Amino acid sequence: MAIQRPKGTQDHLPDGSPKLRLDISARAFRHVTDTARTVLERGGAAFIATPIFEEAELVKRGVGGSTDIVRKEMFMVHYFGDHGGYVLRPEGTAGIVRAFIENGLKQLPSPLKLWTHGPMFRAENVQKGRLRQFHQVDYEVLGSADPLVDAEAIWLMVQVVEALGLTGVGVKLGSIGDPEDRDTYNAYLRELFTPHAERLSADSQDRLTRNPMRILDSKSKEDQAIIAELAVKPMLDFLGTDAEAHFAAVRAYLDAWGVAYEVDPSIVRGLDYYRRTAWELHHAHIGAKSALGGGGRYDGLAAQLGGQETPGIGWAFGVERILLAMEQEGLTLPAPDGPVVYLAALDAGQVPSAAQAALSLRSVMRAEFGLKAQKPGNAFREAERRGARYAGLIGSDEAAAGTVAVKNLATGEQVSVKVEALADALTH
Ligand code: HAM
Repeated sequence: MAIQRPKGTQDHLPDGSPKLRLDISARAFRHVTDTARTVLERGGAAFIATPIFEEAELVKRGVGGSTDIVRKEMFMVHYFGDHGGYVLRPEGTAGIVRAFIENGLKQLPSPLKLWTHGPMFRAENVQKGRLRQFHQVDYEVLGSADPLVDAEAIWLMVQVVEALGLTGVGVKLGSIGDPEDRDTYNAYLRELFTPHAERLSADSQDRLTRNPMRILDSKSKEDQAIIAELAVKPMLDFLGTDAEAHFAAVRAYLDAWGVAYEVDPSIVRGLDYYRRTAWELHHAHIGAKSALGGGGRYDGLAAQLGGQETPGIGWAFGVERILLAMEQEGLTLPAPDGPVVYLAALDAGQVPSAAQAALSLRSVMRAEFGLKAQKPGNAFREAERRGARYAGLIGSDEAAAGTVAVKNLATGEQVSVKVEALADALTH
């Protein structure tokens, strides 16, 4: 039997592939990352790339030992004779903050805005929109605790999805307070859940001792039923004065800029590094459990990873989920750029000349050539199939005269052009 790709992974395919969908279209992925690049770089972000595997300790300390990601979903990396301490990155933030510390990026103008995109890995239960290798576009800002930076980050995220043409998206905004607010909240949750501990899933019983807030993030239906039954108060009710003021300032900026959002007191997020502002991006047609993206402030993370105290905030969205939402909204991609010209030889003897003419054009345009001699009708059809604007034919007469018979495929107009003048003729 032919070998198949691992469960929870996808191939990203070229245009014209059988059964192509937007969420596996290589061109669609590039469209999303190109759009993100335009928006984020106009906002002052610089591109950064970090390794796809990192020390397990980085992810444990960064994402948090009580999260599902660390406890259940890590892909370990093994190689011959290794110390077994690496994992495939489940997200981008911890690696970027590590790179910031390790490479002295604090020297750069502050706050430093960075963005990246690439594959992330989580060994999750696979379902639509939930993969084991998925792709994120990720934006991070390091060096400022100003609520203006939070509002700008949210604004940029919304700008990217709007630039992609999505209309059905909504921001759910919350705050998970400062660490001392969370301690108070966790104490409240512990007291509330302890009498019901036996009814909680085994995972949540464990969360009750380690980090009760994680119970609220449980994927178990039984746990969610208990949460509803106990009418658990949201984290938002436990904010201290500073976190409350910060949250109000973020909302005031968003209101002033006309960014639509809904305050969602139940936002907890699935990673431990957050504090204060936290939000998710949801879509009307993608299940409520599957956010398109999420982000938040993580002022303690750099110190947690052994660096200096550096405030930070960022977000990531899942490219596959964005593409599923685009498909739901019936959005299509801009037309692909075909070759400008397809050059064909009319006899086998002219194939090298057609090839050479195509190569000489490539410093200024995309040019392709046929590997075998073709009849004019077949050459024109082939050129059209490839999306070319012009077809150029080289027969024995043209070879002798050093010319190409060029047909404009849109107008049908045909002219004879000297090979040296081809680039000029095709660009004017
Ligand atoms: P996250 O909420 O874990 O946040 O993931 C962000 C997005 O990645 C999700 O909203 C979703 O679209 C996508 N995603 C996550 N897991 C999967 C999966 N198994 N399959 C498909 N898509 C998935 C983070 O990762 C944070 N690092 C975001 C951040 C950046 N916070 C601050 N800076």
